[in-house]
Amino acid sequence: LVYEDSANASKAVAQEIADLIKVKQSQKQPCILGLATGSSPKGLYAELVRLHKEEGLSFKNVISFNLDEYYPMEPDSVNSYVRFMKEQLFNHVDILPENYHIPDGTLSKENIASYCDQYEVKIEALGGIDLQVLGIGGNGHIGFNESGSLQNSRTRLVALDHITRVAASSDFSDLENTPRTAITLGVKKIMEAKRVILLAWGERKADIIRKSTEGEVTSRVPASYLQEHNNATFVLDKAAASKL
Ligand code: GLP
Repeated sequence: LVYEDSANASKAVAQEIADLIKVKQSQKQPCILGLATGSSPKGLYAELVRLHKEEGLSFKNVISFNLDEYYPMEPDSVNSYVRFMKEQLFNHVDILPENYHIPDGTLSKENIASYCDQYEVKIEALGGIDLQVLGIGGNGHIGFNESGSLQNSRTRLVALDHITRVAASSDFSDLENTPRTAITLGVKKIMEAKRVILLAWGERKADIIRKSTEGEVTSRVPASYLQEHNNATFVLDKAAASKL
């Protein structure tokens, strides 16, 4: 879906999410959202906050699972995804603190594998993710599933690609201080989500959007796996769609 600009696109996606939350409310069921960080979903979160404040959209039945977190990372650090999500969304809506989940960047190494298994078990126990929001890295990564991630990959500790670290280094003081690893939801759980919406804006995403949607399905470009998902939509602005 190509929109005139990211503001209009973000509004449309926020409306779809709001409608889903309300349907689940009317069925007295939780709404399980998979959430992403990065600059791409900021407008979406701002619009969800507006719907909460101005139109009374409640998040009391929302249970969310974030895709990823740098490792190691303290939750109150400026670059933590915990902090990002609180600032962009959670602090401004009525989601219950016990209902949002973000991979823990403070674990000791030996506990990460079992933590990741538990993260997936929690999602499965709730019946899976109803709607997964994604951004896309310049190399086609989804979450922090870098090039080479398999379609059945699980939630795990990963080494970040050089290109990902270079892109992130402006948030940290320099490349040396940019984390080398992260915890990410695996491709398998993303592919099991009932609905997937990938957001991409701007000229800098145009090449990877073309590869992901019109190129071959390949582990080199993990976003290309979404071609095989039965309910995935790439929501783009004109610039990100300019090479299709
Ligand atoms: C990071 C995140 C990804 C995100 C990507 C793109 O790598 N872990 O989930 O999709 O950045 O970021 P942006 O939306 O700022 O382009």
